[in-house]
Amino acid sequence: MASIDYESKIPNNVDLAADKRLQRALEKWQPEYLRWWQEMGPSDFADREIYLRTAVSVESDGWAHFGHVRMPDYRWGIFLEPTDADRRIPFGDNAGTPAWQEVPGEFRTELRRLIVTQADTEPASVEQQRLLAHTAPSLYDMRNLFQVNVEEGRHLWAMVYLLHRYFGKDGRNEADELLERRSGNPDRPRILGTFNEPIQTWLDFFCFTMFTDRDGKFQLLALAESGFDPLARTCRFMLTEEAHHMFVGQTGIGRVIQRTCEVMNEFPDADPSEHGAMPLELIQRYINFWVSSSTDLYGAEVSSNAANYFAAGLKGRAYEEKKYQDHSALEGGYTIEKLVDGKLVSEEVPLRNAMNEVLRSDYLDDNQKGVDYWNKILVRHGIDFRFRLPNRRFNRSIGLYTGLYFDLEGAPVSKADFDAHHDQWLPSAADREYVQSLMVPCHQSGKWAGWIAPPAKGLNGQGLDFEYVRL
Ligand SMILES: [Fe+2]
Ligand SMILES: [Fe+2]
Repeated sequence: MASIDYESKIPNNVDLAADKRLQRALEKWQPEYLRWWQEMGPSDFADREIYLRTAVSVESDGWAHFGHVRMPDYRWGIFLEPTDADRRIPFGDNAGTPAWQEVPGEFRTELRRLIVTQADTEPASVEQQRLLAHTAPSLYDMRNLFQVNVEEGRHLWAMVYLLHRYFGKDGRNEADELLERRSGNPDRPRILGTFNEPIQTWLDFFCFTMFTDRDGKFQLLALAESGFDPLARTCRFMLTEEAHHMFVGQTGIGRVIQRTCEVMNEFPDADPSEHGAMPLELIQRYINFWVSSSTDLYGAEVSSNAANYFAAGLKGRAYEEKKYQDHSALEGGYTIEKLVDGKLVSEEVPLRNAMNEVLRSDYLDDNQKGVDYWNKILVRHGIDFRFRLPNRRFNRSIGLYTGLYFDLEGAPVSKADFDAHHDQWLPSAADREYVQSLMVPCHQSGKWAGWIAPPAKGLNGQGLDFEYVRL
């Protein structure tokens, strides 16, 4: 594996210089990308210097360099983990045969669809978050937002490289369209629902990086097992970057909760909103919204597409090689709960057809770890409240539970019942208005908005009063 070449226009460790046609095509796409970044990326901070990390290696220890850079000068590039020449397809009908280094003709359409669907989420999230810096609660948080943004931009580069390198003209067209769709645009929306939801406040942003970026983690884990080796290798390095995004979400919500606890202990008889903090019930409603929306991203519970992807060796389970003995998944079933005549009934479906549900379950378990972390903050402050994840059936728009109504525990309820509880279960108009009212910028080193506690420590060994963004 070539080390990272930072001399050429497009930093890469794939020896881009050896393939002039590909290099030219990507160098043509590069200014289009920068135009998109200027138009749809973080607005108005292009000339500021941000303390960002940039990939300088794909080794898990010490892969990043930290320094102040202007975002348009960020070195977006193409980084794949090293090839293992002996790698075999780890699962499905072709398990044990050599991994593909080129696209297998019979799976070209499916592979392209998987890559484009993943790719589309990357620029989408940048678009969703583009106005947030204006109301950042601190320079530390603003910097974290920008770090997430530039890395989602890099993830787009990662996927576009695969499209250009392996899918010919079709791939180049797809790469162009990735810069043409727009989050939330009714005429040219992004592909997946959650990526068209507005992220208007920092509470939404922290929920998004906690729950929606975590969907990204599990999609990448499943694709990191792919028999199409270049996809597996690119996803593995994306996962290294992704971890920070979820850190931002989990600790961000944790700091909001900590601040609320402090206010509750100082003013035990008042509602925290009287003192500029976010009530715990309100935070729970935002969690309910973002978890249920992100839970949809796994697709239908029973899916022949998912079965085909698995059979073909294109998309596996998370930790397929490490976690499972049987990689054919032809035996055994998976239990799914269906609503029949108003009652939940268990039904066993063939395991391959339940691969979306398998991945969704792993995701929900991982979410629970974040909830446990937040509940420890409540315990530490002696507050008698506990956060919980909504049941997977709650508020769903894709799959078996679409058009049906369930409470937070997953029990079926009537539409009237659901509507009557809406403002207890999901963010109300008043919640949104209140959270929005707190979104006033705090852009001074070492200072924090009143609704959020400072982090336990700064980034990369820097202090809390470090100039994370030079305004
Ligand atoms: Fe990403
Ligand atoms: Fe991410």
